[in-house]
Amino acid sequence: MGTIKDQITRWNLTPRRQIASSASSPATAETPAQPYVCEHSVSPTPTSGTKTAASPGSDYYTTKMKLHQKLLTRIDLNAIESMSSEQLRNQLGIMLVSLIEEDALPLNHEERARVIADLKNEIMGLGPLEPLLADPVISEIMVNGYKNVYVEKKGCIQLTDIRFNNDEHLMKIIDKIVSRVGRRIDESCPMADARLPDGSRVNAIIPPLALDGPTLTIRRFAVVPLQMHDLIEKNTLTSAMAELLSLLVKVKCNIIISGGTGTGKTTLLNILSGFIPSNERIVTIEDTAELQLQQDHVIRLETRPTNIEGKGEITMRALVKNALRMRPDRIVLGEVRSAEVIDMLQAMNTGHDGSLTTIHANTPRDAMSRLENLVGLGGISMPSKALRQLITSSVNFIVQVTRLNDGSRKITSIQEIIGMEGEVITTQEIYSYKRTGTNPDGSVQGIFSATGVRPKVSDKIRAYGFCLSDGMFDPVVND
Ligand SMILES: Nc1ncnc2c1ncn2[C@@H]1O[C@H](COP(=O)(O)OP(=O)(O)OP(=O)(O)O)[C@@H](O)[C@H]1O
Ligand SMILES: [Mg+2]
Repeated sequence: MGTIKDQITRWNLTPRRQIASSASSPATAETPAQPYVCEHSVSPTPTSGTKTAASPGSDYYTTKMKLHQKLLTRIDLNAIESMSSEQLRNQLGIMLVSLIEEDALPLNHEERARVIADLKNEIMGLGPLEPLLADPVISEIMVNGYKNVYVEKKGCIQLTDIRFNNDEHLMKIIDKIVSRVGRRIDESCPMADARLPDGSRVNAIIPPLALDGPTLTIRRFAVVPLQMHDLIEKNTLTSAMAELLSLLVKVKCNIIISGGTGTGKTTLLNILSGFIPSNERIVTIEDTAELQLQQDHVIRLETRPTNIEGKGEITMRALVKNALRMRPDRIVLGEVRSAEVIDMLQAMNTGHDGSLTTIHANTPRDAMSRLENLVGLGGISMPSKALRQLITSSVNFIVQVTRLNDGSRKITSIQEIIGMEGEVITTQEIYSYKRTGTNPDGSVQGIFSATGVRPKVSDKIRAYGFCLSDGMFDPVVND
């Protein structure tokens, strides 16, 4: 991760690259050699961000640009090396005030506060993104080129009036994020995954792959990670479902969480992993580390992309294989999405019970087909019956999560895999969610219900010394 000095030096550099995109060129042409400008018309205070009509006049930006250039020439890079970020923030404030007064810049009280906050954000943080990152209600930030910034709030996507000056400015911010985690992004390597210091997951893709300019997607997680009781409060599942899921983890069932993108798979995986007893050795494997396990005995592994020569990639599969030699009690795999599936299934089947993972699928049935397809895509040829037998004996439960169109997340099905009938994997549903209608405000009406089926695992749960609440599998309807 770069020092503050590196960050400031980075801002002083002439662009390291030109973005080869016809779509981006008009933007760059608008302001070819200008320094970047943070053009957002919401207050830097972290409350808004949603599109509004008001925006500061062009004089404000011209003044800010001048001030920024002047500030960069005055900063003593050596002196700031030893400063903490709080000290530097204060120092920047003092310098900016004196520069404003020195030049008698025509800024009113509000503009003055704003320009100081904006420039501190530019130099110390991620510029226009800072107000969004400070808003705890925002769960996703999506930057589609320099002038379209969307956010997701309470499950709904909204356009904001935050914008960057041009693609070059956006590229500098992307570069800053990516280089902090020792990765790089440029024309020869135009995609990168990274994460912010607060754990937010970042994906960046730039021209020539992204046709409309650099595109940044930031998945934010709650500052305090969601817990099972939060999910019950949010009506994502009932307390009976939560009780079953926590017991399944404690008695070492292998569970696959299935769901579409952004449905809450990783969040649920994190919560379920929290029920793993603290005396067990847990190995987590992810593409970008998102899990925040609270146990002490956790080893976190992360895949590595190829280096500039196209070499050095460490895949999920290699890490799963390696993890098996690390005496894990449990393996928690962020997501199965390619050849590692076979190693994960074998691990689940051979003494690493209680392993957890997620898969991208819209129904439990699709999840099982996807497991089969992934094995095939991984180049492993296996008769389909044998493969299904492997799945049946490896996976105990599939938990389906769904994002409804009002933005809420629901666990729509908990299914137990119970065996094979002929060539078909048989499952039994224990809990389900059925949508029944829509409220006048657009929110979804629906009901959770137990199907009345008692899971086969009940005996194992009892054998482990846990009690199941009375009537938790009775088909009583809970809203
Ligand atoms: N039950 C829930 N209720 C409300 N918000 C939730 C819930 N679960 C997760 N979220 C929020 O939804 C967003 C997406 O969650 P998460 O990253 O877990 O999804 P995902 O399915 O893993 O996504 P991806 O497919 O992109 O990996 C996060 O901001 C998270 O805080
Ligand atoms: Mg995820």
